[in-house]
Amino acid sequence: MALDIRTDRRPSLTSTLWHSTVGKKTAMAVSGLIMLLYLVVHMLGNLKIFFGPGEFNHYAHWLRTVGAPFMHQEWTLWLVRVVLVAAVVAHAVSAYQLSRRDLRARPDAYRHKKPRASYATRTMRWGGVILGLFLLWHLLDLTTGTVHSGGFQSGRPYQNVVDTFSTWYGNVIYLIAMLALGLHVRHGFWSAAQSLGIGSRHRDRVLKTAANVLALVLTVGFVSVPLAVMTGVVS
Ligand code: HEM
Repeated sequence: MALDIRTDRRPSLTSTLWHSTVGKKTAMAVSGLIMLLYLVVHMLGNLKIFFGPGEFNHYAHWLRTVGAPFMHQEWTLWLVRVVLVAAVVAHAVSAYQLSRRDLRARPDAYRHKKPRASYATRTMRWGGVILGLFLLWHLLDLTTGTVHSGGFQSGRPYQNVVDTFSTWYGNVIYLIAMLALGLHVRHGFWSAAQSLGIGSRHRDRVLKTAANVLALVLTVGFVSVPLAVMTGVVS
């Protein structure tokens, strides 16, 4: 292992891993899978809206008391939030650094001509940016209520969700984001499997099918909520 000339010390294993391409791809894969797990649980939780305001609002209240009495009010929720923020930051930072590294690795002639990245790479980059912006909007809409369309009611997410999907722009924002999410998960799940070394000639077909099914289930599950409000099934 090379010495770090600035400190005259051997870099730690964590530092070596973090600075390597393999390390960054592993960080992307692990953080992506953590977010994916959250999304599956979030999507299933959202489907409770079909059982009416009582059940949906009760579920939202339960999220704040999970683990009680051992855990104080909202402690578990905050634990999940901290893990999620760490995952989002690790994912975004490694994505940015990998794309810079990719650009630097190109021969000079290409670097100046800016050759187009592959379709998958462009979809992942733009999808990631759209999802990041969506997440910001989503939190300001349904968690803090800052940009919410109706009178935001804390502790009454059922009514808040109905308000959001009663506006045309609410539907447009969420539908575009859910489409981006489906495409991102489809390719991201597949890439994560390759980064973690799970892929092989035999397993690739199974992994591709799993990625497609996962992306489809998530997209349909999330999209069903705005569709239900638009069609009056949920009101
Ligand atoms: C139609 C789609 C969606 C609906 C109806 C929906 C609904 C909600 C609602 C009602 C809340 C507030 C829950 C509460 O405070 O009790 C919430 C929070 C949240 N949602 Fe979504 N969501 C959707 C899609 C997404 C997507 C695609 C993501 C991620 C990319 C996401 C990430 C989050 C996060 C991180 C929170 C904050 C949880 C917290 O810390 O309190 N949601 N969502």
